[in-house]
Amino acid sequence: MNKIRVSLVGASGYTGLELVKIFLRHPHVEISNLAVRSDVGRPFSELFPALKGRCDLICSTIDVSRIINESDVIFFGLPHKTSMDIIPKFLDSDCKIIDLSADYRLNNEETYKRAYGINHSDKGHLSEFVYGLPEFNREKIRQTNTVANPGCFPTGIELALMPVLQSGLIKTDSILVDSKTGISGGGKTPQPAFHFPESNENVAAYKVASHQHEPEIEQELSKMAGKSVDIVFVPHLVPMTRGIYNTIYTELTGHLVSGDLQELYLNHYKNEPFVRVMENGNVPETKHVVYTNYCDIGMAVSGNRLILMSAIDNLIKGASGQAVQNKNVMIGLDETLGLN
Ligand SMILES: NC(=O)c1ccc[n+]([C@@H]2O[C@H](COP(=O)([O-])OP(=O)(O)OC[C@H]3O[C@@H](n4cnc5c(N)ncnc54)[C@H](OP(=O)(O)O)[C@@H]3O)[C@@H](O)[C@H]2O)c1
Repeated sequence: MNKIRVSLVGASGYTGLELVKIFLRHPHVEISNLAVRSDVGRPFSELFPALKGRCDLICSTIDVSRIINESDVIFFGLPHKTSMDIIPKFLDSDCKIIDLSADYRLNNEETYKRAYGINHSDKGHLSEFVYGLPEFNREKIRQTNTVANPGCFPTGIELALMPVLQSGLIKTDSILVDSKTGISGGGKTPQPAFHFPESNENVAAYKVASHQHEPEIEQELSKMAGKSVDIVFVPHLVPMTRGIYNTIYTELTGHLVSGDLQELYLNHYKNEPFVRVMENGNVPETKHVVYTNYCDIGMAVSGNRLILMSAIDNLIKGASGQAVQNKNVMIGLDETLGLN
């Protein structure tokens, strides 16, 4: 088959690097444009020397018509609040668009304003984007040209809760989510809290019950449950480079034991290539999922409480790996290509 031509806008960020690494091992993809803001004219391998001899393509400007003409799929690895100003210029084309930012994940402008503190500048297109969680929305992803790739925290939390929400086995107003993230979750631009002397040998909660991902998580969990879901979400920054670990405390609606739930999860995810359900009381660990597109899920029951745990790599299943999984679904390719 002809190679699928992909371009990256915002290629010089952490998610851009991961996308390029995945494309280099994808049998049906060729990279046509690596569009950047600050590093125009430099070889990509000069920005990321690990790729010397493997991706020496010269970084280019964000030239809309050239990128459209030379691409089948365009990935956007821009910061939120920037994506919504740039993506509309690409929407009047036949290219498939995958946005890794949060700008097209929320279904309405009021929620966007509440989460991100500004008015959405492209609200007319919000309803066109499909939320790119393949395990939940595969058919819609197959049929769309525009995907909003889920956030890193939302991905692991939603995959952990989906089976019990869809079967009505937990209460939807008492879900507590305790999450830990590695420092690459903040992208490449330095911020004080992410500075090595601040974050090394330290664990701290941040944006307690006010993190911008909370509305996204509640929006998608509500769709899964078929009714409004209310969570308390407390993220923590931990001194590791990559990985996200979620511990989720829920209340069961009836009497169930660990074995029942494990069977439900094994059955629910039996055909999913990137979700692994832990067995025999084992718990997920970030070290077993980093650099992979896997989400590992574990569970335990204590009285009427169900405790769920999930682990992902924030940059792979939480961003670039999932984006490639979505691209594979949109094009009709084997979903796992480039990701194993
Ligand atoms: N990091 C994660 O774990 C993760 C996970 C899920 C989703 N995401 C989302 O994915 C997106 C990219 O994340 P990232 O971690 O790759 O970010 P990053 O490392 O900060 O990279 C951002 C990229 O966007 C470019 N950029 C910034 N402002 C721009 C502007 N005004 N115009 C054009 N280009 C601009 C930067 O170029 P310069 O080099 O020139 O500044 C850089 O290439 C973000 O929206 C983020 O929230 C990230």
